[in-house]
Amino acid sequence: MSATLATASYIGSTILFILSLGGLSNPESSRRGNLYGMIGMTIAVLATVFGPQVTGGGYAWIIGAMVVGGSIGLFASRVVKMTQMPELVALMHSLVGLAAMLVGFANYIDPAASSEFTGAAKSIHEMEIYIGILIGAVTFTGSIIAFGKLSGKIGGKTLLLPGRHWLNLAGLLVVIWFGREFLHAESIDAGMMPLIVMTVIALLFGIHMVMAIGGADMPVVISMLNSYSGWAAAATGFMLSNDLLIVVGALVGSSGAILSYIMCRAMNRNFISVIAGGFGSEGGAPAPKGAGAEPAGEVNPILAAETAELLRESKNVIIVPGYGMAVAQAQHTVYEITKVLREKGVNVRFGIHPVAGRMPGHMNVLLAEAKVPYDIVLEMDELNEDFPSTDVAMIIGANDIVNPAAEEDPSSPIAGMPVLQVWKAKTSIVMKRSMATGYAGVDNPLFYKDNNRMLFGDAKKMLDEVLVALKA
Ligand code: TAP
Repeated sequence: MSATLATASYIGSTILFILSLGGLSNPESSRRGNLYGMIGMTIAVLATVFGPQVTGGGYAWIIGAMVVGGSIGLFASRVVKMTQMPELVALMHSLVGLAAMLVGFANYIDPAASSEFTGAAKSIHEMEIYIGILIGAVTFTGSIIAFGKLSGKIGGKTLLLPGRHWLNLAGLLVVIWFGREFLHAESIDAGMMPLIVMTVIALLFGIHMVMAIGGADMPVVISMLNSYSGWAAAATGFMLSNDLLIVVGALVGSSGAILSYIMCRAMNRNFISVIAGGFGSEGGAPAPKGAGAEPAGEVNPILAAETAELLRESKNVIIVPGYGMAVAQAQHTVYEITKVLREKGVNVRFGIHPVAGRMPGHMNVLLAEAKVPYDIVLEMDELNEDFPSTDVAMIIGANDIVNPAAEEDPSSPIAGMPVLQVWKAKTSIVMKRSMATGYAGVDNPLFYKDNNRMLFGDAKKMLDEVLVALKA
């Protein structure tokens, strides 16, 4: 493939990636967005493999690596459960970081690559290598720790070393000092020592940064590491003088940063303190045990048949799905109930909290899978004012996202987090298996309100019973 054709293919891929991101911003166009992304990536891979930079002997290595990597990816995507998706994403980010590190070292010791540059261009190239390895190493270990925390292999508790901010600052100064040594190194051998010292510090920093972050804040961390992995890829693009990698890395880096910002707002966290690390470890941090976690008061249970009766008599119903709906895989039954109610003239809508479930868009994906029409699936801000005129708010396996303490109790660990105001409905019905807390580990005063009823049991099982009673 000629260099011109490869460049044209790269431009085509770039456009497809931008269209893909645009498509993914809306559930209705998200399939198309995915398709654009897949076509863009296929073109990008083909243009790179058959482009001018790969010569004869390289093909066997590339094809071998693609078969191994592709098979692992295919296997992982088939076996991973929807609820394990954030863990998988964390693991993938770690691979992007590792790749950026390895490419950086390979590029530095490759005599052909280093002889290409002289004078100022050489310094710039070496800076690209240094920064690329730095971001890659932080992303690599940070993502592995995030994976460990999400999968429960490492405890969710924050690890706060004494004087940790000073430790980080000292690490930064050492990295800057060795950066200077690296740029002034006379030979590749002399440059290796500062490069290795910086890599070790960056690897340790990645571990330290994420270990200091509480389990409940992990989603924001994942999205932040997503952003870091984008910047690591962009830095690799600079090292390899590959424009497509620079553009794609920047797209991933900036979209990850925007998503982190949106999630921070939804969880009422400070974006800057997230970037600085150690996030969620002071004030406002989730407290699995303690005053907020103790059940306080009496609850009013309800049966499935009574729930069906209440729903049948309603004019307006808002369904609030949460993590428990995903665990129970109750989305199809939820839609069956919705259809029956709509046929009876009940106005049924879904209220989606930005961090409901365990990953961004988790509920939207499940409801789309069950074929719930998009026009009745609304964002929290679009219907929060409608609860006072709602007859029944049905909460399916959700907890933190409907906790009134976020608004009413300034001492609550989740104080300030925007929540769906289900308690303002005439009746709220919470469907869950027990009085257990949700992800943030805090008790929920909603359960004890006079207008609240508890429908205890597995969401799918209970909803099946409600459906039978509704159809009877
Ligand atoms: P949670 O607060 O975690 O509550 C889920 C509830 O579902 C639990 O209290 C649990 O109670 C119930 N449940 C579990 N399995 C069930 C089943 N089979 N049937 C019925 N109920 C079941 O979930 P949420 O309200 O969706 O809030 C999300 C939380 O996760 C927030 O704190 C958010 O910050 C955090 N988070 C979000 C994300 C993203 S990006 N969405 C990622 C990670 C974490 P029982 O055990 O009593 O059944």
